[in-house]
Amino acid sequence: MNLLSVRLRARVIVLLPRRMVLFASLASLLIVFVVIGAAQAAPVPIVLTGADRRPATSLNGDWGSIIDPYFSGLFSFHHEEKGNGWFLNRKAQPGDQFPTEYDFSKAPKLKVPGDWNTQRESLLYYEGPVWYERDFTYQPRQHTHLFLHVGAANYRSWFWVNGQKVCEHEGGFTSFNCDVTAVIHAGANFVVGAVDNSRIEDGVPGLETDWWNYGGLTREVSLIEVPETFIDQYDLHLRRGEGSVIEGWVHLVNGEPGAKVEVEIPELGARTSATTGDGGRAAIHFSVKGLERWSPETPKLYKVVVRANQDSIDELMGFRTVETRGTEILLNGKPIFLRGVAIHAEAPYRTGRAYSDKDAETLLGWAKELGCNYVRLAHYPHDETMLRAADRMGLLVWSENPVYWALQFDNPKVLAKAEQQLDEEINTSRNHAAIILWSMANETPNTAVRTQFIETLASRARTLDPTRLITAALLVRAEDHTKIVDDPLGKALDVIGINEYIGWYEGNPATADVTKWRIDYQKPLIVSEFGGGAKAGLHGTEKDRWTEEYQASIFRHQLPMLNQIAQLRGMSPWVLMDFRSPNRPLVGIQDEFNRKGLISEQGQKKQAFYVLQKAYKDGTIGKAE
Ligand code: GCU
Repeated sequence: MNLLSVRLRARVIVLLPRRMVLFASLASLLIVFVVIGAAQAAPVPIVLTGADRRPATSLNGDWGSIIDPYFSGLFSFHHEEKGNGWFLNRKAQPGDQFPTEYDFSKAPKLKVPGDWNTQRESLLYYEGPVWYERDFTYQPRQHTHLFLHVGAANYRSWFWVNGQKVCEHEGGFTSFNCDVTAVIHAGANFVVGAVDNSRIEDGVPGLETDWWNYGGLTREVSLIEVPETFIDQYDLHLRRGEGSVIEGWVHLVNGEPGAKVEVEIPELGARTSATTGDGGRAAIHFSVKGLERWSPETPKLYKVVVRANQDSIDELMGFRTVETRGTEILLNGKPIFLRGVAIHAEAPYRTGRAYSDKDAETLLGWAKELGCNYVRLAHYPHDETMLRAADRMGLLVWSENPVYWALQFDNPKVLAKAEQQLDEEINTSRNHAAIILWSMANETPNTAVRTQFIETLASRARTLDPTRLITAALLVRAEDHTKIVDDPLGKALDVIGINEYIGWYEGNPATADVTKWRIDYQKPLIVSEFGGGAKAGLHGTEKDRWTEEYQASIFRHQLPMLNQIAQLRGMSPWVLMDFRSPNRPLVGIQDEFNRKGLISEQGQKKQAFYVLQKAYKDGTIGKAE
């Protein structure tokens, strides 16, 4: 381009309307930003169904850790992201012209899995960034992909392997997998993660929760190697209705259209194969003979082998159907009443975020002892360990997305985050026979923008998984002594969940005796929460709050009241075990624990435990139809 034409064009530009010039420069600026942004944005992690059933190299154990409240390991003093951040895991070198002011090898350790709050007294209240580092050796094999599998990292997290960014993630209760194939070395490697549990206004959950904001790598971390063409997700379920037809799909990554996939159930001598379409998905549909359906009474699990190309997964799963018919919930075609209890992922005895088989078996063991056939896992997706235990022990599950109390329901970014977490929850856990309910939310304000937000989530969940029931825990309003269930969100749900605290946050235990209910939905209803607080071992009269007698009295009055509700098809009193909460400072009673447990965090059963156990065992509560 010669100077003359430049000058000519310049003149022409001057002539152009000022706005057009402005627009042109903004557009080019935007392009520059997008290019730079794309360059810095980390690859998006993927969801692997049944990741816990894959052979893996565990990275659990002691990790070097650095507490970094100002996040100066990532941001400069002008809050720009640093190129030489602590993710480089740099060691000071003789002759360095600048100081290296961190050294993971000398840093105190934090255990993974585990929250940091209960590992070090100084971190009990800590909310902010913490750096983790771990060395490991690995021999990558040809024609394979390697993923860094993170069971959960609360709340936002960033990961680098050998100094290279491999992914970032938001959401504290779902697993994700970062592709590290391109950056792994044969031999010595290191992984650095930064985890920040700061609560943020546009977060999911938002700023307020009634559970402790346990931070860290709270579930297992490992390396999962898969062949170049591999199965990332699959769905297998029993078709509703008579007979035993298993349907679903298997999705392949990097597979050619027409690639063959196979599903086999050796115990039943059943096998089928199908081929993938353009999108990498193969539809599965085959009849099996002699199938024993999964139910709480008979939690029959089958080894199911899913194969494609060089890849295969040995899944362990049960087959059952769940649906509604009017106000009934049908499990395997028969009406069922859900005798349940709500559970937080708080570890019994040691407290902190639960993650182990032992934690799961202790909590679910107590639920079985109570006479439960169902548990509400609140208020966020619990880990695969808990869900595998529920499959094994025969407990039906309400699983929940952490849309809790108030969120920025008018913020599309927040909706996208809630959708991402919902996708991760469903795509990770979709093959658990135990899970029958996907809960979209808990105690959200009855506003139009909220209703729209959750209706969007509910229809997304239905598309992702049309084989389960959609629910949410709604608030209830009152007129005098009549409780009214008419939240418009109920229209979008298959099963109505309601939370009420008659006898605790309102009235006294006997208030239940005079309370009437108006339910504006001819749908199954679950009382997803009711109860009251008691300090284990504190005794007095039924009128003395915080005593076991008062809590037991709440249950004695609640159960006959709830039995009057024609649509009542289940309940999950709040809560199985006392759990840590930042909203509970009452010294000598709560001591930062929510004391509504039927059992204390140290395993002491309160009187109310036996009141409910008797009702469940005698069958005096609830009707399946
Ligand atoms: C609410 C909420 C729970 C909370 C409970 C309580 O209903 O859903 O998360 O812990 O009440 O106040 O104890």
